[in-house]
Amino acid sequence: MNPLSYSGWADVPAAQQPEWPDMLLRDEAILKLAKVPPLVFAGECDTLTERLADVAEGKSFVLMGGDCAETFVANTADSIKARLQTVLQMAIVLTYGASVPVVKVGRMAGQYFKPRSNATETRDGVTLPSYKGDGVNDLEFDLNARTPNPMRLLDAYHASCSTLNLVRAFTQGGFADLRMVHSWNQSFVLDSTVGQHYEQVAREIDRALSFVSATGRDPEEFRRTEFFAAHEALVLDYEKPLVRIDSRTGLPYAVSGHFVWVGDRTRQLDGAHIDFASKIQNPIGVKLGPSTKVEDVLALARKLNPQKIPGRLTFITRMGHTKVREVLPPLIDAINKAGEVVLWCCDPMHGNTRETSTGYKTRVYDEVFDEVKGFFEVHHKLGTHPGGLHIELTGDDVVECIGGVSGLNEADLVGRYETACDPRLNREQSLELAFHVAELLLKRTQS
Ligand code: PEP
Ligand code: CO
Repeated sequence: MNPLSYSGWADVPAAQQPEWPDMLLRDEAILKLAKVPPLVFAGECDTLTERLADVAEGKSFVLMGGDCAETFVANTADSIKARLQTVLQMAIVLTYGASVPVVKVGRMAGQYFKPRSNATETRDGVTLPSYKGDGVNDLEFDLNARTPNPMRLLDAYHASCSTLNLVRAFTQGGFADLRMVHSWNQSFVLDSTVGQHYEQVAREIDRALSFVSATGRDPEEFRRTEFFAAHEALVLDYEKPLVRIDSRTGLPYAVSGHFVWVGDRTRQLDGAHIDFASKIQNPIGVKLGPSTKVEDVLALARKLNPQKIPGRLTFITRMGHTKVREVLPPLIDAINKAGEVVLWCCDPMHGNTRETSTGYKTRVYDEVFDEVKGFFEVHHKLGTHPGGLHIELTGDDVVECIGGVSGLNEADLVGRYETACDPRLNREQSLELAFHVAELLLKRTQS
């Protein structure tokens, strides 16, 4: 299949695509991407669909977390490890606190492409193309840096490859052994109440593990952990050449990540992103913002999951904490009445972004948590399963979101604000959220 002339995709408009200044270079990048080895395997994607089917059926919970925008400079062992640790620690808190299995998914190894509300950015009278993610251009405010460069598609692939390699080594090679739950906390602030709370959980897990091992058992599940990679399928010059036909089934899979989602800005029913998602076999997601209509969810479910396969389609809702209780119920209700099968996941980040008086884009912990609470309340009333959480986080010691148990405020943002795009929860705020969500989940499973 020649990726430049392949006719498997509908010839329809694609929103949010980079304007490459050099189309020959773009073709060269596409041809190279079409030949590289896959980042993930079709069988792994099918396994994730099965895991998500359990979530859709109410038997487990999915946690998706990672950077808003991964960057090439932060593609270091320390940064990847810190993000992975944070997701693993959150998953432990949820699993232990609520006694539910947690499917772990990183917003990692492919999150190099960003949709933007404005195509350009103006500073001091100078207007340049907006930053669209390291896979397209550079964050630095300079004409050369901001000009989209198709060779960056290849850089994004190679960076994703090295991230995934490290993640696979960590999760399969002993680091994610349950007996290591204490060590994940080592570099963490033990003087924080959240850090101490985690230590207590880790001690209890140790006792339970000692008991199991005293009975003469050493289950394989304790030594390795399943971890999947997800990102937004945004730039189709990256995604389309990274589709491969699975030799077992003859069906197409996106091999750029196990799970890909379509963003709120690109989810037009007749647009190229939904066409793309409808034709790949991976488990897929669609972000739904507060403007989503009942007709939209019904049409998306029919188009993306016509066979009603549990785990195939996840709706990631990001309504904002003031709106979630009002706009989410009619959508869930319509899906239920139509007998469509979807997994509902809450993104409490993207509907709760605000700007401080000093010009920082931030999020307030209580508002983030309030959206999760609203999400749980709505599902409780409708008798459906609040299936998961999708958050932007980092393991680094930054301050980008305010609030939380240590009372971070606007003044703390100065000097500790590092994100290339949206504000992320730091490790302490992420763990605090996990403890709070575990309580909600526990109540839910007990009711
Ligand atoms: C994102 O997840 O980074 C994002 C841009 O989200 P949304 O499509 O929901 O705005
Ligand atoms: Co974001």
